[in-house]
Amino acid sequence: MGKKVLITGGAGFIGSHLGDLFLSKGYQVKAYDNLDPQVHGENASRPAYLNKDIELIIGDVRNPEAFASALNSVDILVHLAAAVGVGQSMYEIVRYTSINTMGAATVLEEAVKQRDHIEKMLVASSMSIYGEGLYLCPDCGEISPRLRSTAQLAERNWDMLCPICGKPCTPIPTPETKPLYPTSIYAVNKRDHEEMFLSVGDAYNIPATAMRFFNVYGERQALSNPYTGVGAIFASRLLNGKPPVVFEDGGQSRDFIHVRDIARGCLLALENGNSNGEVFNLGTGRKLSIMDVGKAIAGELGRPADDFIVNNQYRAGDIRHCYADVSRAKTILGFKPSTVFEEGVSELCNWVKSQTSTDMVDKATEELKKRGLSR
Ligand code: UD1
Repeated sequence: MGKKVLITGGAGFIGSHLGDLFLSKGYQVKAYDNLDPQVHGENASRPAYLNKDIELIIGDVRNPEAFASALNSVDILVHLAAAVGVGQSMYEIVRYTSINTMGAATVLEEAVKQRDHIEKMLVASSMSIYGEGLYLCPDCGEISPRLRSTAQLAERNWDMLCPICGKPCTPIPTPETKPLYPTSIYAVNKRDHEEMFLSVGDAYNIPATAMRFFNVYGERQALSNPYTGVGAIFASRLLNGKPPVVFEDGGQSRDFIHVRDIARGCLLALENGNSNGEVFNLGTGRKLSIMDVGKAIAGELGRPADDFIVNNQYRAGDIRHCYADVSRAKTILGFKPSTVFEEGVSELCNWVKSQTSTDMVDKATEELKKRGLSR
């Protein structure tokens, strides 16, 4: 019998792919998930995509009794369950912090009680904890800037300016050593996740690792969730015959990593003792502008590549650029992403074509606007 893994959030997008990979490597997999309506739809039951060999336990991570019983006799704990939505986290502060921070606290207290059988813990962290990525100023060298000022953004001057000399700066790969400046409640919650797991793991001698996921895309993303990542949002808009809404000028960039590469990176970390107590970026090291991502998705879905609403507005807390320096994961874990964006996006769109989704983007944009969180 293979080792037993419990994945919180195991019925979700990333968790279900990780479950598939674990099963293929001979692990026994249990998923603990509350089937959140925003992700899974109202009154959802077991998702059709969830591998039939995964045991699904429906429960909330803040329920100690239910979680304790799910954790019984588990060797490996992977904590992915979280409320995910940067914009929404800024007006549902209590709900996010309750699910994310108190959820992690509950999970950890039970893990401590059952530590005699837990060999390893892995927690999903996020690139959001960096805030802006690392940049190079032509005069001042490497800089780790805070967010662009409100005054600068009010002028629709989108590019990052050096906080010391004011010159335009170029983004460079962001390593794990960059100072953390989380700019949303979600990001603060994710930093909590990371620090809570590493500190509790260290104190109780339960090996723990945190993975900083960059922008994850792929099949099974919740297309009707308007707070999910931009790839799914654009695909959902296009699927509904509407032009995607592009914030700023579309020149902002991110590092898009395919969900199967995320799963592989997590497994490598779990199986490698040198990951204990460490944090790792999981990205590709390639930056793509949001406009290029939109064009690629439109192209794959057979929609015009120039029909976008570039709204020249910005979301509070949005960063301009961040992409991963993946050398630590490469050196310590032997991690190398295997899906290039062009192939991954084609696969994503083939799947999207077989789906229906309700376009909730206008409603979500309105929620942000009425609270002054997009301007
Ligand atoms: C954020 C988090 C990330 C999290 C992800 C999932 C930060 C820095 N990162 O990423 O950790 O995993 O959310 O929710 O907080 N955009 C549009 N049109 C849209 C939607 C988005 O132009 O309809 C733009 C945004 O303004 C942004 C970029 O696309 O510039 C990426 O947005 P999004 O996919 O929400 O992810 P991040 O904010 O990068």
